[in-house]
Amino acid sequence: MKNLLSMEHLTNDEIIAILDRAAQFEAGEVTTLQRSYHIANLFFEPSTRTKTSFEMAERNLGCTVIPFDAGFSSALKGETMYDTVKTLEMIGLDAVVIRAKEDEYYNELLEGIHVAIINAGDGAGQHPSQSLLDLYTIKKEFGSFEGLTITIAGDISHSRVAKSNAIALERLGASVHYLCPPEWAGNFTAHHNWDDLIEESDVIMLLRVQHERHKVNKDFSKEGYHEQYGLTLAREKQMKDGAIIMHPAPINRGVEIDTTLVECERSRIFEQVQNGVYVRMAIVETLLKGRE
Ligand code: CP
Repeated sequence: MKNLLSMEHLTNDEIIAILDRAAQFEAGEVTTLQRSYHIANLFFEPSTRTKTSFEMAERNLGCTVIPFDAGFSSALKGETMYDTVKTLEMIGLDAVVIRAKEDEYYNELLEGIHVAIINAGDGAGQHPSQSLLDLYTIKKEFGSFEGLTITIAGDISHSRVAKSNAIALERLGASVHYLCPPEWAGNFTAHHNWDDLIEESDVIMLLRVQHERHKVNKDFSKEGYHEQYGLTLAREKQMKDGAIIMHPAPINRGVEIDTTLVECERSRIFEQVQNGVYVRMAIVETLLKGRE
């Protein structure tokens, strides 16, 4: 594995190997990397958990994290993504973690760039490290994916998390359902009401309403959305025993989920964040080991 760009590019064996390595890190194992590598995190879109947990993972692996502030970089003078990454490569970096607003921005880096590239989110495309930490959280809970019923509910068409998880979960044997307003389904065949989904699902995965990617819609009502598509207190009571709640966050409290459910017994939302560090350690180590 040279880069991590999309869940489409990973085999099931590669996914399971990353999850297993993450479990070893969680159990206290340390990296077997042979030297300290140089990594930069290039975030051209906002992030709290992905950027910070990649940085924590990199430091845990003994890497040197080279600061890069997209808001003060020469990208603002019009430098291309290719020229930015090539420049960092020539300075001596070994890997870059990139989040950018353009779908598949990484295509322009596939030829001529030799640093490892980790996609930390491309527009409304893919978010593979989030998907891998979601898979890790589910596997930790249920042991495997076969036979699980998973409902992904929310802003499907704008969600790179939904797209990455759809590919991975279906391939790993889960039965995945999608729930959203009709205009947010994109290429997915989606349900438009909860019906039996709430009682049948082992995992309810909620997605943030991405207001910043929507045209202004005066008809959108947070309360209306919560009542029709959100996880309300009443719906949580209908969930089956052992079923869990996930959300990649950030959360619009009171919209996708009732605020009192964010840290309820079923919720794994903050555990997902914690798992993200172990999973990102496994991702970074896997890519750097490939260079040894
Ligand atoms: N889940 C996620 O990608 O969060 P951030 O945007 O805070 O990184």
